Amino acid sequence: MNTTLRSVGAGSAVPKVAAIPAGVVTLADHENHARKVLDENAQAYFCGGAGDELTMHTNSYAWSTLRLQPRVLQPMAGGHTRIQLLGKTLAHPILLAPVAYQRMAHPDGELATAHAAAALGAGMVLSTQSSTSLESVASTVLHPSNSATRGPLWFQLYMLNGRGFTKDLVQRAEAAGYEALVVTVDAPTQGYRDRERRANFKLPVGVSAVNLSGLPVAQNAVLKPGQSALFDGLLTTAPTWDDIAWLQSITRLPIILKGILHEDDARQAANMGLAGIVVSNHGGRTLDTAVATADVLPRIAQKLAGDLPILVDGGIRRGTDVLKAIALGATAVMVGRPYVYGLANAGAVGVAHVLRLLRDELEVAMALCGCAILSQVTAKVVYQSTKL
Ligand code: FNR
Ligand code: LAC
Repeated sequence: MNTTLRSVGAGSAVPKVAAIPAGVVTLADHENHARKVLDENAQAYFCGGAGDELTMHTNSYAWSTLRLQPRVLQPMAGGHTRIQLLGKTLAHPILLAPVAYQRMAHPDGELATAHAAAALGAGMVLSTQSSTSLESVASTVLHPSNSATRGPLWFQLYMLNGRGFTKDLVQRAEAAGYEALVVTVDAPTQGYRDRERRANFKLPVGVSAVNLSGLPVAQNAVLKPGQSALFDGLLTTAPTWDDIAWLQSITRLPIILKGILHEDDARQAANMGLAGIVVSNHGGRTLDTAVATADVLPRIAQKLAGDLPILVDGGIRRGTDVLKAIALGATAVMVGRPYVYGLANAGAVGVAHVLRLLRDELEVAMALCGCAILSQVTAKVVYQSTKL
């Protein structure tokens, strides 16, 4: 990408498009630079993980320890990164994971992310806890002029405080044009978050979970002596598989479960007729020492045997990681923190740059492993894959 991008147009009224900071040419560079741009409070939120952050670090480490075994002299002309997902053709397999409160990273927040996703043909998943309304993001992405080139727009749903509010939120997402619901199921203890060291942050004035205004305040259960504030309190209203079945009954949208780490849960999702799963440990933000997604992906792919599309996220930081994810059975990947770092560094241009880098790196990795198209990327590209 041109690192000195300027918007084209006459007159001084046209704002300058932010430039990618000099020397930022990898996702790691974006992270290093963002750590200088983000204040301490925003860093605590965006960069942190649960507990001692072991899972957070293991996620990227696990991808990095897989070794690729290149192939030479294969015909590559006409190669591409296209995939099929939920009946649509996507230009490439890289989606933006739901990340809350993006206006804390940059004043343009989720709208900048939406512009970049649409321009780069990347799928975007908007968080329930976005700091921009789900309707504004939808009208930014969904445009007749880009319907052939944009990626899918999905809404990430937290099922909060009973079914009434959830149903309203689902109906808003449907009316706004979202194309799938990504139901996050791995964070039912989120209310306990504030006890965690690294999530000790405060939302700045003007940044809030705007989609949730009107959310009924959870009634704190009156606990009897000896009862657990978690099991007899917070978790009494947490969703179960029955709530997923209920959700299927009230929406026409495909449902994807995000936060699957066990092959039996993946199988249950397939048996219920859901549309897909995201193998995810929430970027290491829920259960510390939970298995790295790269480690568990092959087992889940084996159990599903192609019955459901698998997305995976957590620690994907380079094009070779995307290639490895596909080799181990994923259809597509999502990235979280990396694009937020791009956003902090240069707004929409920064998010676009992160997406472009990943896609370019993926193309190079495909070519060097002898794969012109992604369906040729099998476990064989990973060295000693017979032992996987
Ligand atoms: C998240 N994630 C997340 N997931 C979700 O379902 N709803 C949400 O609102 C959020 N919010 C959120 C905030 C922040 C700051 C982070 C870092 C992550 C998890 C996210 O969708 C994704 O699973 C991970 O970020 C993937 O890991 P990497 O790419 O960040 O390593
Ligand atoms: C988080 C929640 C919002 O990870 O999912 O911060």
